[in-house]
Amino acid sequence: MEIVIQPTYEDMSRLAAQQIATLVRNKPSCVLGLATGSTPIGVYQELIRMHRDEGLDFSKVTTFNLDEYYGLAATHPQSYSYFMNEELFSHINIPAEQIHVPSGVATDIDAFCSWYEGEILKAGGIDLQLVGIGRDGHIAFNEPGSSLQSRTRMKTLTRETVEDNARFFSDVSEVPRYAITMGVGTIMDAREIVMVANGKNKASVIVEALEGPVTSQVTASVLQMHPHVVCYLEKQAASKLTNREYYQWVFENKPGTEVPAPAPKTTRKKKNRR
Ligand code: PGA
Repeated sequence: MEIVIQPTYEDMSRLAAQQIATLVRNKPSCVLGLATGSTPIGVYQELIRMHRDEGLDFSKVTTFNLDEYYGLAATHPQSYSYFMNEELFSHINIPAEQIHVPSGVATDIDAFCSWYEGEILKAGGIDLQLVGIGRDGHIAFNEPGSSLQSRTRMKTLTRETVEDNARFFSDVSEVPRYAITMGVGTIMDAREIVMVANGKNKASVIVEALEGPVTSQVTASVLQMHPHVVCYLEKQAASKLTNREYYQWVFENKPGTEVPAPAPKTTRKKKNRR
C-alpha cells in the first residue's frame, strides 16, 4: 500500500487524476470503477480539464460505479447516477452505453445485483477502482460488519452515514436508508485501487483503516491486503497517521525519481617519479 500525503485537496486530486489518466492513455479500453461523494469531485474536475485541454480520450472507457441509493431513480437530483452525469460524464466523451451505475429502483434486487457483477466480469474486470472513505470506515456503502468477501447487494446505511449525507438533502428524513453497493470482495477484485481522503474529519478513520487491524468493522482496512493500492491523502486527513514521515520519505524516494548519486571522484594517479 502506498500512502501519498499532499498539502492541499487540489494537489491530492491532481495526483489521483494523473494515475487514472495514465491508465486511460496506456489502455484506452480500460474499465474504471468510480465513486461518488464530495471527495472525488476534484479528481473528476481534473479529468475533465485533461479531456478538454489535453485530449484525454474516454471514448473506449467502460465505467462501473460503486453504489446507488435504493429508492432514488436516476433522474432524482440526489441520485448517484445524476451526480455522475453532473460531475463527470456530461463533460467527457464517454458513450452512455459504456456507463454503469447500480439501479436504485430495481424490483428484483438479487437478480439486478447478479447482473451487475456479471457485467463487470463481461467487461474483463475493473482495472482501477476509485474509492473514498466514510467516517465509519466504509468503502462504497459497505458499512461496519460487512463481509470482507461480499459482492454487490443491498445494505442498510448506518445512522452516521445517513446524517453525513443529509447535507445533500433538504431534510435528514429524505435520506434513503438503503443502498445497492458493490461488495468488499467486488472492490478487492479490481487490479488497482485508488483511495482519496480529505479533511480533518477523516483523520481518525484513516488511522484505523491504514494502520489499524484488518477488520470488517472498518471495511476500508481490507485495502491493506490488496497488492496495488495508492491512498492519496490531503494533509489534514493524514494528520493522525503514526508513520506519516516514512510515507513522505517513500514518496520522495520513489524508484525512478531519486536524485542520481554523485559521480565517484576520480583520484589522480600519482606520477611515477622514478
Ligand atoms: P465524502 O464521502 O467524500 O462525501 O466524504 C466518502 C464516502 O462516504 O465514501
